[in-house]
Amino acid sequence: MATAGKVITCKAAVAWEPNKPLVIEDIEVAPPQVAEIRIKIVATAVCHTDLYYLLESMPKDGFPAVLGHEAAGLVESVGPGVTEFQSGDKVIPLFLPQCRQCRFCKSPKTNQCELGVDAGHGDVMGPEDSRLTCKGKKLVPFAGTSTFSEFTVVNQISVAKIDHAAPLDKVCLLGCGVSTGFGAAVNTAKVEPGSTCAVFGLGAIGLAAVMGCKFAGAKKIFAVDINPDKFKKAKDFGATHFLNPKDYDKPISAVLAELTAGGVDYALECVGNVGVMRSALESCVKGWGVCVLVGWTNMHDITTRPIQLIAGRTWKGSFFGGFKGRDGVPDMVKAYLDKKVKLDEFITHNMTLAQINDAIELMKQGKCIRTVMSVCPQ
Ligand SMILES: NC(=O)c1ccc[n+]([C@@H]2O[C@H](COP(=O)([O-])OP(=O)(O)OC[C@H]3O[C@@H](n4cnc5c(N)ncnc54)[C@H](O)[C@@H]3O)[C@@H](O)[C@H]2O)c1
Ligand SMILES: [Zn+2]
Ligand SMILES: [Zn+2]
Repeated sequence: MATAGKVITCKAAVAWEPNKPLVIEDIEVAPPQVAEIRIKIVATAVCHTDLYYLLESMPKDGFPAVLGHEAAGLVESVGPGVTEFQSGDKVIPLFLPQCRQCRFCKSPKTNQCELGVDAGHGDVMGPEDSRLTCKGKKLVPFAGTSTFSEFTVVNQISVAKIDHAAPLDKVCLLGCGVSTGFGAAVNTAKVEPGSTCAVFGLGAIGLAAVMGCKFAGAKKIFAVDINPDKFKKAKDFGATHFLNPKDYDKPISAVLAELTAGGVDYALECVGNVGVMRSALESCVKGWGVCVLVGWTNMHDITTRPIQLIAGRTWKGSFFGGFKGRDGVPDMVKAYLDKKVKLDEFITHNMTLAQINDAIELMKQGKCIRTVMSVCPQ
């Protein structure tokens, strides 16, 4: 490509400060360095975790930033030492790397690569070595992906190469939401055929969890949300029962216990609310019920009475649906192309990057499942 080795000036949505609208700016994107890949973003969607960072957790050193982590694009150019990718490859950036070398990557038990979010930055880009600048300031590379930009630079261990037949404006959803919810049911909860499940929160993550429960053969799937507008979609994805906690004057765990002779086999929390996390756990049947936390929050403690766990319930969490991204995401793309998982049905709105603040507003108001924004034409 004519741009290889040069700084690219392009449009990006910059979050200059917390809780303020993003601003479309001209930014400079430096060429990829050793082991890095510069990606032309074709499509990106808004996930609630972008809102969490911008509106809730608001990290002190986290701005100015380019948010966005659910996207798909084309390799523009690669840095020295990159052999697995070349210009023109279709790719999905990963907010959780898979280095394939560390003890976590080598274990089949987890996708928590040592170079991921918890472990500092390692070989993955941190704020200090951002390749994105605007008006002389370095832009924080959110989640190591920063996809609300026409171009971004990502370490090669955080990039999945996908089938060339994949439509990028659909498979972008596999970069986070759909893989996360689906994998939470299939990989983390390990839902069994014939089981009874409850999914709390019916955004893209929860609907994908419903889809995962159905895929795994669940017989009954309770869809729980305080916004009843979400129930129709949940039905389309396989939910069989619908509960709005606001319709009851007792805890939803008690309602579920009555409806299921003691509780569900699997409960998935896809809201990011510690109160709902407790309800989800306490909705599980004693003896073997498994509750998986998928909703994202790091601001409050979770609580329950010890007897809940002593009685045989398990409380666990799931990050990116348990997928090791470089292996799992191409597999999910294939599953979509083979019509084994749905994606199109999650997309309620299509916009352009210039309309990013409208897309954020829709999610704030609970009026969308996913808004896919076209960024660069292919
Ligand atoms: N673990 C991970 O790897 C991971 C990855 C992506 C997103 N997430 C998290 O998953 C969560 C869901 O993301 P999303 O993009 O689907 O968000 P979303 O905003 O589209 O959906 C959230 C849903 O929860 C519902 N809800 C809110 N309060 C509720 C309550 N008290 N009881 C029942 N339902 C309630 C809302 O009405 C909405 O339908 C977020 O916390 C997000 O940060 C986690
Ligand atoms: Zn996400
Ligand atoms: Zn690793």
